[in-house]
Parts: sequence; C-alpha cells; structure tokens
Amino acid sequence: MTDLPFTTIETVDAVFLYIFGISGLLLLGITATMVVFVIRYHHRRHPQPQPSPSSKLWLELVWTLIPTLIVLSMFWYSWEGYLKLSDVPPDALKVQAEGRKWSWSFNYENGRSSDRLYVPVGRAVRVEITSKDVLHSLYIPAFRVKKDAVPGITTYVWFRAPEAGSFDLFCAEYCGVSHSSMITTVEVLPQEQFDAWLKQGKKAATVEGSALLTRHGCSGCHSVDGSQRIGPTFQGLFGRQVQVVSAGREQTLIVDLNYVQLAILQPQTDLVQGYPPIMPSYQGQIPSDELQVLIDYLCSDALSTAPADQ
Ligand code: CUA
Repeated sequence: MTDLPFTTIETVDAVFLYIFGISGLLLLGITATMVVFVIRYHHRRHPQPQPSPSSKLWLELVWTLIPTLIVLSMFWYSWEGYLKLSDVPPDALKVQAEGRKWSWSFNYENGRSSDRLYVPVGRAVRVEITSKDVLHSLYIPAFRVKKDAVPGITTYVWFRAPEAGSFDLFCAEYCGVSHSSMITTVEVLPQEQFDAWLKQGKKAATVEGSALLTRHGCSGCHSVDGSQRIGPTFQGLFGRQVQVVSAGREQTLIVDLNYVQLAILQPQTDLVQGYPPIMPSYQGQIPSDELQVLIDYLCSDALSTAPADQ
C-alpha cells in the first residue's frame, strides 16, 4: 500500500483482473482437461463402451462448492469496489455535467462553464450528471467511470486523476443521429493551472461567437458552411427568408436579430419547416453577455454567404 489516496482506477482494475484471471485459469484448465480426455478416451483405445459410475457424492459436492465460493468471492470483491465508487471523498471538487442532444456542458460552483471537463490533478472530483432531453451516459474510460444521464434526476460519479493530461469523455448511450458527436475531453491540469483557469470565471467566456457555438453545443446540429445537419445551417442566416410553423400555422419570416434570439431561447415558437422540433430551450442556459456575442455573430458578415441550396 502506498500513501497516495486510492483512485477509481485501481478499484475497478483490481476487480477486473481478479475476474479475468480466474476466467483465464478456468479456460486453461477446462481446455487442457478436454484435450487430455479426447486423447485418453479416443474410441480406438476403447472400442467397447465401459460402464461408468452413476454418481459420486464427494465429486458433486466439490464441483458445486468450489465454483460457488469463487463466484461469491467475485461478488464480494466487486461489492467492495462498488462501495468505493459510490462513496465520494468529502473534499471532492463539485462539477455539474449536463448532457443534451448532442453535447456536454460542465458547470463549476463559481459560475464558470465549459464544454470540456477541467479538473485538478490528484484531487477527487464529484461530477453530478443530468440530462436536458433523453438518456445519455457520461463515460470516461481512463478513470473507469460511466453513469447514465437521466432527465429529471441527478446521478453522479467521482474519480481522481493521478496525472495531468487530456483524456476522452464519451456519451455511451445511443441518443440519436449525432450521438457520436458527444465526444469531448477531460483536461487534467496541475492544481495552480486549474485554479488559474477556474478564476478566469465568466470573464474569459467572452470570446468570439464561433467558440461559443462549440461551447454551447450549437455546432452539433447546425453547420456554418451550408452543409446539412439535423438543424438549419447558420450560413447566410441573417436576412434569409424562412418558412416557419408558429402555433400550427405556417408563415414566412425574414431572419433578424429578434428571430435569432427567439430561436435560441424558445426554439419551438417559430419552428423552421422541414426540421424536427427537437432543439432544447437555451433559456437561462447561456449567460446574457455570451448570448449577445452569439446573436451578433450569427447575424454577422462572417456567416453571410448564402448556402447553395436555400
Ligand atoms: Cu448522448 Cu449518446
């Protein structure tokens, strides 16, 4: 035993190796026995069938009891691990994770938010997980944790990153056409760097619009180059004529600043025809300064080229 606090990695790996080791031994043992029997009882050596004992109590007890004990030991060992994975160290850093079709966002207690999960090295992190729409699953293979994101309830995982680096974070529950774009990273930073990152707070969030599209998950569904995704492209958005369905009635609108704001905060109000009503409302999800930058960007010259087929 070392003095380092344990991590979810050793906890899961120990159980995995235990079960894998026993399975390997059984595989070797059974295969070897089979091969020996095939040779030893080959019909050329024993042309005539021999009578065999119909039962042998001690043998039956042995082959029932030993596997039962092995399976019970696997259960006990896994249960111990499960308790460690459930029992979050009290000094853990809290981060809220929210899944939506099709991106993740991570929110810190001081109001900082990010589309990547930034954590300090060596410190326990408790990730509280929820979903805005359907089942997703937060999966970080490097730290051996995976938990469903369920609308309406909060689930959690905890882990401790033993070293700095960048590690994959996936959605592990099929959640629709862009399920595979719910991939991001856990960025493990040395404590001082993490503190500096966290302290930047919302200020640093005031970046260009294109970064905000990624951070808030817009680009999972909307392209900026005219290519077709699940939602309308942003290319040539401002001033575009759109057919929308408003409260069941069709009408034609010209995209302006107000329309863009409404489409972000209440996407179902004037829904563009031909697109499914699946976008979640971003009301209260985007800080107002960022929302302004985003709207300005979407209506700016940067995206003004009209898409080929609109
Ligand atoms: Cu979210 Cu798959």
